[in-house]
Amino acid sequence: MPPVVETIADLRARVAGWRKDESARIGLVPTMGALHEGHLSLVREMKARTDRVVVSIFVNPAQFAPHEDFDRYPRNMEDDLAKLATTRADLVFAPGVAEMYPHGFATGIEVAGPSAGLETDFRPHFFGGVATVVAKLLIAALPDIAIFGEKDYQQLLVIRRLTVDLGLPIEIIGGAIVREPDGLAMSSRNAYLKPDERRIAGKLNLVLKGVASRARSGHAIPATEAAGKTALLEAGFNSVDYVAIRDAETLEKIETLFRPARILAAAKVGATRLIDNFAV
Ligand code: PAF
Repeated sequence: MPPVVETIADLRARVAGWRKDESARIGLVPTMGALHEGHLSLVREMKARTDRVVVSIFVNPAQFAPHEDFDRYPRNMEDDLAKLATTRADLVFAPGVAEMYPHGFATGIEVAGPSAGLETDFRPHFFGGVATVVAKLLIAALPDIAIFGEKDYQQLLVIRRLTVDLGLPIEIIGGAIVREPDGLAMSSRNAYLKPDERRIAGKLNLVLKGVASRARSGHAIPATEAAGKTALLEAGFNSVDYVAIRDAETLEKIETLFRPARILAAAKVGATRLIDNFAV
């Protein structure tokens, strides 16, 4: 099992030890635990690119609204450590809430640009909480590279923006989405799905692939997005927050497919909100 440290001071001491070897490259994989194959693929990717890999496990209260699932978010440290043992991760940073948000904590990081719209329209608190905790994790570990899954594509762009804007000397890379055999993107929240909901959830990626191919064959983008929403409701989703085809780099709205684009969607099945995206 990888060793676990719970304080920023201990994390820094370990990293400082590794940095005595000036050529050592250090990677960080931030997670909220409840690890699945998607997370493990990020750890393996970091292990291939760097000499030492830190995995952080912290369920960040600041990115959950009061009505969201912070309390029931799955937590199983022993299971996470056993999974990480198979990846040769070097260190786990698992701080408590008081370590990350000490008494009197009064700082927040807001990123405009790529955080506008999409997730923010439905979870207005989300990117402020993510940006603040990720900035803290990056500053605490000061890795050479940090990796974030492309399933949270808008989050990845927000984190890239914040890293450039704050002048952090850290390369941010995206890790490919890992999917179940029916194409459902792996997510810790898939554990909430009842069997009938799980069957419906597996259709999200299929609908999005259909929407992407309609867009590629020249259908107008707003009509294609609307057709995607209808298809998701017909597939059994209770509600659809968005189906959007956007510029892949800025997430701005686009009229035509002249530049690399991304199709992104969020929809609810039962009480579980799922997101997914594909390159177009
Ligand atoms: O994607 C996640 O698991 C979280 O949003 C992150 C990046 C670890 C920040 O809490």
